[in-house]
Amino acid sequence: MVSFCQIGAGRIGQIHSGNIARHPRAQLKTVVDVDTRAATILAERHGAAVGKLETALADPAIDVVLIASSTDTHADLVERAARAGKAIFCEKPLDLDRKRAEACAEVARKAGVPLMLGFNRRFDPNFAKLHKQLREGRIGRLETLIITSRDPAPPPLDYVKVSGGLFRDMTIHDFDMARWLLGEEPTEVFAAASALVDSGIGGIGDFDTAVVTLKTAAGTLCQISNSRRATYGYDQRIEALGALGMLRAGNVLESTLEFAGGTGVVGEKPLHFFLERYAAAYRHELDHFIDALENKRAPMVGGEDGVRALKLAEAALESARTGKAVAV
Ligand SMILES: NC(=O)c1ccc[n+]([C@@H]2O[C@H](COP(=O)([O-])OP(=O)(O)OC[C@H]3O[C@@H](n4cnc5c(N)ncnc54)[C@H](O)[C@@H]3O)[C@@H](O)[C@H]2O)c1
Repeated sequence: MVSFCQIGAGRIGQIHSGNIARHPRAQLKTVVDVDTRAATILAERHGAAVGKLETALADPAIDVVLIASSTDTHADLVERAARAGKAIFCEKPLDLDRKRAEACAEVARKAGVPLMLGFNRRFDPNFAKLHKQLREGRIGRLETLIITSRDPAPPPLDYVKVSGGLFRDMTIHDFDMARWLLGEEPTEVFAAASALVDSGIGGIGDFDTAVVTLKTAAGTLCQISNSRRATYGYDQRIEALGALGMLRAGNVLESTLEFAGGTGVVGEKPLHFFLERYAAAYRHELDHFIDALENKRAPMVGGEDGVRALKLAEAALESARTGKAVAV
């Protein structure tokens, strides 16, 4: 059994704790949160204890520290857990500052502890199948990749203010997907971005709508389309085009029900948001992490991936501000 101490009992913390508790080879021993009430609710739900981080770090019975607390706590917690010799699962992003992210990934590397980052979309069954068939050569050489990611509605302004901006908060997932699916590093980034959905977002200098183009050294192109609004639901699609055809992973709908009548054919909306849409992906990423620990293999997505996605986010921000393509 792999024993977990989980830090953070908020939205994503509730998902991870449930998945740990239900996993046949994992147990949730301790929940840590500055909000004691949130920690208590979660701990009681899963038969765990509310604890302190210092105690958990000193406890040899704890194998893993899972970090699901607010972004500004990640880098410090990664370093503390690494120095205590614990395996680490950390939610994205490692930090909003790339240099800080690099430094904490380096601490984990030097400590020799496994560090997995929560880029959950790699573990979505549809996207994972697309990746597999791409690598198997089903469409031949990849030429164009199109990633569409639109939220159903903008988050509260208080969230946006501390989020690090659209590229570091939202597009970061797409940058990781792009690197993973392209199978080579983008060398050039061009981004155009606007605030079209919420004037409050524009008022604090952030964007809510963006189109990002990535180009690799081999010339492969990737286009990412982001919006903080999609009235029809959470829009998560991927298209990969190559010499032999196209692989496409569409939205996962609320149900397969369709109405067909004289006015047309109407289907259901996509699953509402990330907690529903990526429920299976969160389970699979935990499974992968536990497998990696048990088999002493590096997890598929680690600190270096977190840093590279941040580099692309920084380049996109610079490009959107200057109107020029940025070399990475
Ligand atoms: N991979 C994904 O799909 C995904 C989805 C949502 C959030 N996230 C990431 O997960 C993290 C948490 O997001 P959320 O939406 O669950 O936020 P949240 O605000 O709902 O929960 C964060 C929790 O962390 C606690 N916390 C804050 N500082 C702490 C500290 N120093 N020690 C212990 N606990 C502390 C808060 O009290 C709160 O309960 C963020 O970094 C976010 O980017 C990832």
